Amino acid sequence: MSHPTINVRCFRYDPETDPAPRFQDYRVPLVEGEMSVQDCLNHIREQLDPGLAYCMNCRLGFCQRCILKVNGKVVLACETAVEGDIVVEPVNASEVIRDLWCEST
Ligand code: FES
Repeated sequence: MSHPTINVRCFRYDPETDPAPRFQDYRVPLVEGEMSVQDCLNHIREQLDPGLAYCMNCRLGFCQRCILKVNGKVVLACETAVEGDIVVEPVNASEVIRDLWCEST
């Protein structure tokens, strides 16, 4: 059975090489009721773009290392269910090490 796809728009930026931040769109199959933002990012990195940088650790809502802004709201990526298109950004773009990976995470 094929799943509907959603658009995941991710903040991309390498301060050492990129002149400015940009957004990149990815199409991700949505398994309704089962996917978190972290699952979407894992799919992108495992299936579409191994260069996407982000930070995850416990996957249980404890460590707070997956804190991101999703559709403008600050959330834990591992605990936030996805139901449609999303825009994923760092909470503080001035702290970006690369893409969605920040100094504070
Ligand atoms: S990965 Fe630890 S709180 Fe999300």
